[in-house]
Amino acid sequence: MITPSFIYGTAWKEERTTELVELAIASGFKAIDTAGQPKHYQEDLVGAALINAFNAGLSRDSLFIQTKFTPLDGHDERVPYDPSKTLAAQVRQSFENSLANLGLDFIDCYLLHGPYSHPYLGSSDWEVWREMETLLGEGKIGAIGISNVNPMQLRSLAVEADIKPSYVQNRCYASRGWDAEVRSVCEEFGIVYQGFSLLTANSDVVRGETVSKLAAKYDKTPQQVIYRFAMHLGILPLCGSTNVAHMSEALAAESFELESEEIALLSKVAA
Ligand SMILES: NC(=O)c1ccc[n+]([C@@H]2O[C@H](COP(=O)([O-])OP(=O)(O)OC[C@H]3O[C@@H](n4cnc5c(N)ncnc54)[C@H](OP(=O)(O)O)[C@@H]3O)[C@@H](O)[C@H]2O)c1
Repeated sequence: MITPSFIYGTAWKEERTTELVELAIASGFKAIDTAGQPKHYQEDLVGAALINAFNAGLSRDSLFIQTKFTPLDGHDERVPYDPSKTLAAQVRQSFENSLANLGLDFIDCYLLHGPYSHPYLGSSDWEVWREMETLLGEGKIGAIGISNVNPMQLRSLAVEADIKPSYVQNRCYASRGWDAEVRSVCEEFGIVYQGFSLLTANSDVVRGETVSKLAAKYDKTPQQVIYRFAMHLGILPLCGSTNVAHMSEALAAESFELESEEIALLSKVAA
């Protein structure tokens, strides 16, 4: 199983999903994020891209494939499990459906799309998590994690679960110190933080003077500055671009270094 340094996100790609996943892989992305949530993700069309990639000679273990179990309130009428069954049965059915969609027998990382209970985890969250642990124990999943989580929920999962989360996937707002509280729990427990909406949740910062000056200094785009900065913070970024030039630009953000004062400045840019 590879350790990814950038993840291609497949939400909202609709009928272009297969084509865009193929372009992302050809551009150099080695990790793909999807979900068993037809409302936002065409997981079967991700699977079609994977089949084409494997047929073209790519090996399964050169890719990191991540998908998610989505609680009922995250679905429209297309629910990939029987909601009248127990939560454990829902997770198993959704997972089996994801395997079929993706044409795989192993998922590198399986995420709980979001907790059921707020602000603390509740019994539903634990029931789902235990089934994810069971699937991992059966060798069908490499790692488990949680998305859209707050620091208290994450801490309790990290402390109390038999199998700790390996990954968190959160929307990363500059105005919250780039999700500083959740990242701090991640650091404490050795959890990898995946950041999404780095560009779209922070458009003022992307367009702002600080980022523009750094982009000019390093001859990079403002988006590359944001991605590079995120990596310096230890964030594993997601990129959801539909533009092949932007995909390559995103990956090329790994090729330069910001100075420590610049990282400190960007850390507080929206404080
Ligand atoms: N767990 C969750 O609840 C959750 C929620 C939302 C998203 N996600 C995941 O995160 C992935 C990414 O979503 P996101 O919101 O973070 O998308 P994103 O990549 O931040 O934003 C996409 C937007 O940014 C533009 N963009 C991307 N790269 C660019 C670049 N290098 N230069 C200029 N513009 C660029 C895109 O335009 P172009 O298409 O023109 O490049 C598009 O308008 C999703 O696909 C999904 O996998 C997860």
